[in-house]
Amino acid sequence: MGNLNLQVNLGGLAMKNPVTTASGTFGFGLEFAPFIDLNRLGAIVVKGTTLEPREGNPTPRMAETPAGMLNAIGLQNPGVEAFIRDYLPPLRQIDTPVIVNLSGNSVEDYGRLASILDGADGVAALEVNISCPNVKQGGIQFGTLPASAAAVTRAVRENTQKPVIVKLSPNVTDITEMARAVVDAGADALALINTLLGMDIDIRTRRPVLANIFGGLSGPAVKPVALRMIYQVYKAVNVPILGMGGIMNGQDAIAFMLAGATAIAVGTANFTNPRATLDILDGIEEYCDREGVRDVNELIGAAH
Ligand SMILES: Cc1cc2nc3c(=O)[nH]c(=O)nc-3n(C[C@H](O)[C@H](O)[C@H](O)COP(=O)(O)O)c2cc1C
Repeated sequence: MGNLNLQVNLGGLAMKNPVTTASGTFGFGLEFAPFIDLNRLGAIVVKGTTLEPREGNPTPRMAETPAGMLNAIGLQNPGVEAFIRDYLPPLRQIDTPVIVNLSGNSVEDYGRLASILDGADGVAALEVNISCPNVKQGGIQFGTLPASAAAVTRAVRENTQKPVIVKLSPNVTDITEMARAVVDAGADALALINTLLGMDIDIRTRRPVLANIFGGLSGPAVKPVALRMIYQVYKAVNVPILGMGGIMNGQDAIAFMLAGATAIAVGTANFTNPRATLDILDGIEEYCDREGVRDVNELIGAAH
């Protein structure tokens, strides 16, 4: 395949190729070691981590839809201290940067998490999930108000030297307004999109399918929305974008890079094919080979 350069830089994080995993869909990465060589990934984004352990929402909390899935996991995780103690040591043995996705219920939670993870050896960057309820403001999500999103970003920025990637929620009227707010507050890169709020109803029981009633829609159904938002955000701000939302194969990944993504994350596809990440990496290489692309960076934003 010649001398194709696959290296990209995501806001200060050097990656050997653009392929990462979407938080919450790849466990702590180690679960996938029997299926793929984790060393081949550009980065691993692990499960969302909070200060305290969380059991998550009652079941059923996942449901299949015609073009993707609904989930309302509720951030089940063992808490940041257990992550650092039990999961980080084996992850350090892998030659792939680990990005930790963090969530909190207050601005202070985010600041504390950032400072704890800043001191953790083997954490390459922080991905800040702002699609969580602000308990102090009565449950309004941080990611739906520019001022709250900026406050969270600032709290993380002030407590870490590591690259800060802020993950935007698509459940807003103007995604560029959110992007500008978090970039002005110190984000080194943006990740988008998180899931779109949805629901399903079982007509036999006449009840909502998920115990939580509402859940996040992901998979092929959301891809056009994700591409549109990445295209808009690429034009609005000047930081790299980690693109995700329905990427199932190499062609999808290429479309995301052409829209403006520097790197891409694979989420729902992992549930149908545990080798999806590496199949997608192979697909990117094949496309570049076929199209005479020598450096994958040429593709970023080329659709504009
Ligand atoms: C089961 C499940 C759990 C998820 N958990 C998280 C999470 O903890 N933190 C987060 O920022 N996003 C979480 N997400 C959102 C994904 O990381 C991703 O943004 C979204 O699913 C869109 O990508 P996809 O269509 O490729 O799955 C989760 C998604 C799914 C399906």
